[in-house]
Amino acid sequence: MNDKQKVAQAAIEYVKDGMVVGLGTGSTANYFIEALALCVKEKQWSIKVVSSSTVSLIKAQEYGLELVSLDQLSHLDLYVDGADEVTPDLTLLKGRGYDLVKEKLLAKACKRFLVLVDQSKQVETIGEKFPVPIEVIPFAWQMVKESLRQIGGDSELRQTASKDGLVITSHGSLVLDTRFKGSPGTKELNDRLNAIPGVVEHGVFYKLASDLLIVEEGKVSVLSEAESRR
Ligand code: 5RP
Repeated sequence: MNDKQKVAQAAIEYVKDGMVVGLGTGSTANYFIEALALCVKEKQWSIKVVSSSTVSLIKAQEYGLELVSLDQLSHLDLYVDGADEVTPDLTLLKGRGYDLVKEKLLAKACKRFLVLVDQSKQVETIGEKFPVPIEVIPFAWQMVKESLRQIGGDSELRQTASKDGLVITSHGSLVLDTRFKGSPGTKELNDRLNAIPGVVEHGVFYKLASDLLIVEEGKVSVLSEAESRR
């Protein structure tokens, strides 16, 4: 078992029969989907799942999990996802998979948001390793880019992997990958991004994570939201 599989397996401990579980996006979340499907089969549990992206939807279908659509739910029990960066106060940077709208809706609507990372994702400041992904309404991208410039952000439209087109999110948005000069605090960055017209969603997940499961060389440790505030 590799580290991502181990942390995904550890997350199964948080699942209980009868829950509605949100499925994240990415390689770690994929391992969790596999582990969950196995657990449901072995224990004959009644679990409903909701996907955060088309990728996790297809994966859940492949593994025979019972899907419920997001528009049928006002809340869910548990959401399990990975992250690209995590700070000591449990602020996350997400969005390499560019399905931020659903990911943040699930993170906000769940009773418990479990984040699965390896130690390489731990940073002091958001944006240390990756640009901040900012989903924008297509016709607003130039104005949003200028608003971001005014708060110290240098943005580029995200291109497809083959560099022959622009990435379009499942919500139909463009993505401005943005590097910030200096290090605005997480709250300040979150507030400033929330206040820009034309921004649909962004990759800063502030005060949303409940528990962080961190894996390092096969050993999983847990940091909960209450401890992170000490
Ligand atoms: C997708 C995400 C992912 O959770 C993040 O990119 C981590 O992915 P991985 O588990 O493959 O390292 O935010 O939008």
